[in-house]
Amino acid sequence: MKAVIYKKYGPPEVVQQVELPVPKPKDQEILVKIYAATITAGDARLRASDFPLLFWLPARIIFGLFTPRKKILGHEFAGVVETTGKSVSKFQVGDAVFGTTTMLASGSHAEYICVPEQWKQGVVAHKPDNLSFKEAAALPVGGMTALYLLEKANLGPGQKVLVYGASGSVGSYAVQLAKHLGASVTGVCSTRNLDMVNSLGADAVLDYTKEDYTRLSEKFDVVFDAVGKTTRSNAKTVLKRGGAFVTVNTMTHEKTEHLVKLKDLAWQGLLRPYIDRTYPLDELAAAHTYVDQGHKRGNVVIEITTHV
Ligand SMILES: NC(=O)c1ccc[n+]([C@@H]2O[C@H](COP(=O)([O-])OP(=O)(O)OC[C@H]3O[C@@H](n4cnc5c(N)ncnc54)[C@H](OP(=O)(O)O)[C@@H]3O)[C@@H](O)[C@H]2O)c1
Repeated sequence: MKAVIYKKYGPPEVVQQVELPVPKPKDQEILVKIYAATITAGDARLRASDFPLLFWLPARIIFGLFTPRKKILGHEFAGVVETTGKSVSKFQVGDAVFGTTTMLASGSHAEYICVPEQWKQGVVAHKPDNLSFKEAAALPVGGMTALYLLEKANLGPGQKVLVYGASGSVGSYAVQLAKHLGASVTGVCSTRNLDMVNSLGADAVLDYTKEDYTRLSEKFDVVFDAVGKTTRSNAKTVLKRGGAFVTVNTMTHEKTEHLVKLKDLAWQGLLRPYIDRTYPLDELAAAHTYVDQGHKRGNVVIEITTHV
């Protein structure tokens, strides 16, 4: 199979396409023929080993001290079940599925991936028919992160939430999910993304290049930092007494119930992945370069077969 690997940490040029044997599923795993994957901010960070100083050594111990332990990057995927391990019961050959690897696993920048049918090293569900493979591949990581943090903040109907960095992957899902929960949403983004964030359903949008949200007189029940570029102390200036601050700079927990919930919302037309750009697998270095800039809008998809 075609796969894109990186043998050392570094700039986008360290990734290279190679031929590898198709992996064989263990008893509890499915082998998925991948039609589409994504490149997330996390994939680009792993490649560059660009971790905050405090986490740099622990991250290198976990992901590989001198060279990367997992050579194939990529977490999210959508495709079709090619074969199943002998104890698999939820999926059958030919099922259209989508999901993400979890924990320390990766490997979706390839034509095939093995993932367990139950949560641990992966979270998988049947793909909703109304999403393309490209859209489905872009749903798990940003969607589950947004859902986890909104639940942690206990956001409910009638409450006000400010989503800081509403134009990224996590932010674009946070805006849509917060609206679904019945909240009033203010999205913060740059000038070029005002229309995008409006189109996701935000009640108000604020251009961070022109206005500082911490000077707003309006108070919020929740401030959701979706790009890790604001702080709890800044957020406090606009939080109501007892309000919650949540940020992507904390650990989140991916679980199958969340993926199924996102799938149901997508199926009902209440949630739509926003796709910025699509790259073929053999242009993955260019995709890394783009994601490295930190200005992607929603999600960047990798097309692995062309009929998606
Ligand atoms: N904790 C977890 O489990 C978890 C899970 C997923 C992601 N993450 C992390 O969450 C972060 C966000 O990831 P992502 O994929 O959603 O987006 P991303 O690719 O990191 O961010 C891109 C978006 O951020 C906006 N942005 C950049 N600088 C900004 C600023 N100063 N203020 C407001 N917006 C700004 C950009 O728009 P403009 O530049 O045009 O403003 C762009 O739309 C990443 O650091 C990622 O590693 C954490």
